[in-house]
Amino acid sequence: MSKSLHRGAFPATRMRRLRANDFSRRLMRENQLTVNDLIYPMFVCEGSNERQAVGSMPGIERLSIDLLVAEAKQLAALGIPAIALFPVVGADKKSLFAEEAYNPDGLAQRAIKAIKDATPELGIITDVALDPYTTHGQDGIIDASGYVLNDRTVETLCKQAEAQANAGADIVAPSDMMDGRIGAIRHTLESNGHINTCILSYAAKYASAYYGPFRDAVGSAGNLGSGNKYNYQMDPANSDEALHECALDLAEGADMIMVKPGMPYLDIIRRVKDELAVPTYAYQVSGEYAMHCAAFQNGWLDKNSVMAESLLAFKRAGADGILTYFAKDMALLLNN
Ligand code: PBG
Repeated sequence: MSKSLHRGAFPATRMRRLRANDFSRRLMRENQLTVNDLIYPMFVCEGSNERQAVGSMPGIERLSIDLLVAEAKQLAALGIPAIALFPVVGADKKSLFAEEAYNPDGLAQRAIKAIKDATPELGIITDVALDPYTTHGQDGIIDASGYVLNDRTVETLCKQAEAQANAGADIVAPSDMMDGRIGAIRHTLESNGHINTCILSYAAKYASAYYGPFRDAVGSAGNLGSGNKYNYQMDPANSDEALHECALDLAEGADMIMVKPGMPYLDIIRRVKDELAVPTYAYQVSGEYAMHCAAFQNGWLDKNSVMAESLLAFKRAGADGILTYFAKDMALLLNN
């Protein structure tokens, strides 16, 4: 240890000085989580006054459109900027070619219209992917061997994104991981007058085991069975590949990019933010939510403080916003 650092018996720098009082801890705080950072994922189902609990996601429900609209008003009042909408599609609406995905009167499209009419100030982010609509639970259209066909799927994704934009979606968010879909969707939107519809690309989406509770929530788990998404979602071992994916999607016209899952991939958020410096979002996914809730329910972790710490970590990693099933609870906590 050099002399300048150590004078006699005393440390020259005492890191604890600034930590000693609340005022100085506040002055030196580098990051802050606000309600503006929160995006709430929501599940919509058919029916009226219908409310279904999701077993593996305590506190999260599938809501029919009427209840969803009422909830959306509350979220807007809390100051939450946007929601991400996921439809729970009945077995009778699923098919090999996922035609229901672009039905102008389909559940997702009706939900978008209803929320936009009631709460125009609330941003609506829609999921562009075919898994709710396919009989096999894959995100695209498959060939006889079960392989997801890239370019054939992209054609359908374009129709889906256009149907969502026509219904009033503010941000379309392709979560399917097909190649070239951002460019194709951008072209479709521009050609149809939707020049201000944003694209949030799930650019670095990993083939993660943390999506399990979500697949229960939307009812695609049974359809997917023992299938997996390894030939389109990313290998959790990779990091450079995430930068490559993000750069491609930005070049094709994405306005915002997403890293998913969240907490196990904070290193990816930091790399993307440092190297690309664009609006970057993180998804604290269903499995992350489920494991937190399990610990809260057992009394093993304190809910409010752990929830807040987990979300602040995304800000520190460089995220501009977080999709999280805690969005509503966190907004309530921040507003108090
Ligand atoms: C499907 C989609 C998934 C999620 C969002 N969109 C699941 C998957 O890729 O299998 C997961 C979200 C979560 O786990 O919270 N396109």
